Amino acid sequence: MVVVRVLVIGSGGREHALLLGLKRDPSVDDLHAAPGNAGTAAVATNHAVDVASREAVVELAQRIKPDLVVIGPEVPLVLGVADALREAGFPTFGPSAAAAQIEGSKAFAKDVMAAAGVRTARAEVVDNPADLDAALDRFGPTWVVKDDGLAAGKGVVVTADRAAARAHAADCLEHGHPVLLESFLDGPEVSLFCLVDGEDVVPLLPAQDHKRVGDGDQGPNTGGMGAYTPLPWLPEGSVEQIVDEVVRPVAVELASRGTPFSGLLYAGLAMGAEGPAVVEFNCRFGDPETQAVLELLESPLGATLHAVATGSLADLPTLRWHDGAAVVVVLAAENYPGTPRTGDTITGATGEGLLHAGTKIDRDGDVVSAGGRVLGIVGRGADLRAARAQAYERLAAVRLPGSHFRTDIGLAAEEGRISL
Ligand code: GLY
Repeated sequence: MVVVRVLVIGSGGREHALLLGLKRDPSVDDLHAAPGNAGTAAVATNHAVDVASREAVVELAQRIKPDLVVIGPEVPLVLGVADALREAGFPTFGPSAAAAQIEGSKAFAKDVMAAAGVRTARAEVVDNPADLDAALDRFGPTWVVKDDGLAAGKGVVVTADRAAARAHAADCLEHGHPVLLESFLDGPEVSLFCLVDGEDVVPLLPAQDHKRVGDGDQGPNTGGMGAYTPLPWLPEGSVEQIVDEVVRPVAVELASRGTPFSGLLYAGLAMGAEGPAVVEFNCRFGDPETQAVLELLESPLGATLHAVATGSLADLPTLRWHDGAAVVVVLAAENYPGTPRTGDTITGATGEGLLHAGTKIDRDGDVVSAGGRVLGIVGRGADLRAARAQAYERLAAVRLPGSHFRTDIGLAAEEGRISL
């Protein structure tokens, strides 16, 4: 299938990586992004539309007439933008609003997992502040407190400090959001992205994110400060085990409820002594893992995503991958993951492996920071050591006042310090 014109919805590093991956597909020759960022403007035509509006996105698609629409972020998916595009006749990569509840409501995800017999943390939903203390007493000594809604990874607090756990839960409840308390899952984390088309499941390479803001996994959670792929410490057969025990049962359960999943199902897992257990599901490509995973994809991305969007994943040839490893290091703005400082001029952010996330072009034509995670710097090499070296070498050329990054992305794996 020839996919000539593609519209990518979103504005982060994930979307820049998707666009660059699509550009490498020889059948794709016209790329559009909405709203995009300063980096996507170099490979695609950016369109300033409100991507949370079904009407605005459909109107844009009617003007552009794409052969494929790829939806990056969870918010438009949960709001039914994929449904609206499909109703208007556009092949769309991304689940329906009903299936996107696997990310949109953590309580829904728990219900699906229970029905599918998938291992996950014990959980309780608290929606009344009067019940909070008794519920906290039933968890610990490490508390996992999640905002039961979309919070870009920052709604999760994992802490051995009961007072900190209580403060986060109380804050969510004060804002009218139910809270999910979970038992802590032990074991190294894996992000496994799977293309899913009903009951058909095709895994991509496994990756690992680094969610804490600081080196050595210190500090608060973020949307992700860096990632690497593949995982040298993951035993052979683990990906097949995760597909068989986790992803396919959930896909089958969603299909049996009349809400089949079509798109990218992201399983966030802890690899514990008893096997993989689900930390969370997301209904879209992960950010920043995608930036590393797509760096190693050899198969044409446009044809791959189009196969899912048109219900023909079963006919897709086996995916091909480059040998070696890829790493992405996130450069974050001052004060991220708190309210980030924006509007700072970025210099040196050109060349290979520089993926834009929170950037825009200001009135003077300068590239400036416009979000918390500003850039993702990708390195690739024969192994993790070489990939890390290239990513950090590229990062050294970039200047953003007040910015910070982790120096240890992929380091524990490189040094053989991760084991099951
Ligand atoms: N990397 C975490 C996420 O995409 O949610």
